[in-house]
Amino acid sequence: MAELADIGMVGLGVMGGNLALNLAEKGFRVAVCDRDPALRAALASGEFGDSFIDCDAEGSLLAAIRPPRPVILLVPAGAPTDAALSALAIHAAPGDLLIDAGNADFNDTRARTSALEARGLKFLGIGVSGGAEGARNGPALMAGGSPAIWDRVAPMFTAIAARHGEEPCAAWLGPDGAGHFVKTVHNGIEYADMQMIAEVYGLMRDGLGFDASRVAGVFSGWTEGPLASYLVEITGEVARAKDAESGAPILDIIADRAGQKGTGRWSVIEAQRLGAVATTLEAAVAARNLSAASDLRAALAKPSEVSVSLEASDLHDALNAGKIIAYAQGFDLLGKASAEYDWDLSLADIARVWRAGCIIRSRMLDEIATAFEERPGASLLAAPEFSARLSSSVPALRRTVSAAVLAGLPVPALSNALAYLDQISRPRGTANMLQGLRDYFGQHGFERTDRKGSGFHGPWVAGL
Ligand code: 6PG
Repeated sequence: MAELADIGMVGLGVMGGNLALNLAEKGFRVAVCDRDPALRAALASGEFGDSFIDCDAEGSLLAAIRPPRPVILLVPAGAPTDAALSALAIHAAPGDLLIDAGNADFNDTRARTSALEARGLKFLGIGVSGGAEGARNGPALMAGGSPAIWDRVAPMFTAIAARHGEEPCAAWLGPDGAGHFVKTVHNGIEYADMQMIAEVYGLMRDGLGFDASRVAGVFSGWTEGPLASYLVEITGEVARAKDAESGAPILDIIADRAGQKGTGRWSVIEAQRLGAVATTLEAAVAARNLSAASDLRAALAKPSEVSVSLEASDLHDALNAGKIIAYAQGFDLLGKASAEYDWDLSLADIARVWRAGCIIRSRMLDEIATAFEERPGASLLAAPEFSARLSSSVPALRRTVSAAVLAGLPVPALSNALAYLDQISRPRGTANMLQGLRDYFGQHGFERTDRKGSGFHGPWVAGL
């Protein structure tokens, strides 16, 4: 009988196929299953073909794995994941471990954990970031579930993960849905980071008159400083690339309508539910939604020639400040979810896992990890390193946002970042007016600055 596999993989699309290759390259034997025989055949006939056991159904897949049998699922979120889990659960034996490595809604992961554990099965929800290239050569891995169960498969996941120096970017982060939630917020931050980059590009293009190759040059020049990151790096590459057919910059040919699969939206829905302020993430999701309304945008279009008076260094610093604020909001959201769901998340561990392999990998994440190591539980904005960076970069953010607003160029994520910072840095806000109004029309009561207690009313409430 052929040697049994170390692990199974259900779903051999871009992510599943590449993860299977990564496992095989690291010396693991993988039983693979997909409804599309062509995807299985591609693996079997490829470089690591001998490392794969080709299975046409869930039952034969499980039979091909050494017990206790771990199986990774990489199928689309929602109903397809439920269907794949049910098909596996029928054939699984107590102790078998099902691992959802897709971009799942953490609420689904929590429900699936309870349902599968009630049947004696083990379940992990692992967030995987890094796209196709990461899956093949080293993704960032964010695990959620029982730590003892993670320990069973940690050597395999650690072997395939990206490395920051010597440290693997794979970690158990918390129980049940914690891993998938961390991945969801990673994507929310990814949306905000990309939106701010797009806004800066828009100012270069529409306000400064830069063509794509000049945009490419500026972004490529930013890859060494505080903005050093994968996303800034590939921004330069995207701006530089030419369309194979016309020879024109591909950026000038790509339609300005952005899609989304849901993770950004999930993070802002959860932020609202938890009372967390994630306005830069929300602005990024909204900007994608508006981008899709291209007919309305065309109908409302007003021809305008504008110019802004900004230096590229202003845009650099504005992006730096906006990015710090977006990350602060993302980590604050993680902290709030941790408290709500009793996950005891370590923000420093999360930042460490994000330093390599994932889409938002950047030099800043290394500095964020240090900030949370030194001051666990404190806001990133209060960390001395980041508050100093904000002091020097916020003036440029102000110049950038005001120039954009005066010219009518949209910068929703950057301006939300600034508004957040301005609100959070004012000891005396304006919610006293809100409270007065609420009490006036609804007798909702308020607290007073000069007395302890709550439920006070203004003179407009009759009889008081
Ligand atoms: C990653 C990416 C990856 C993917 C998402 C977001 O971390 O590798 O975030 O998960 O890009 O699917 O895609 P959308 O932009 O389509 O929501």
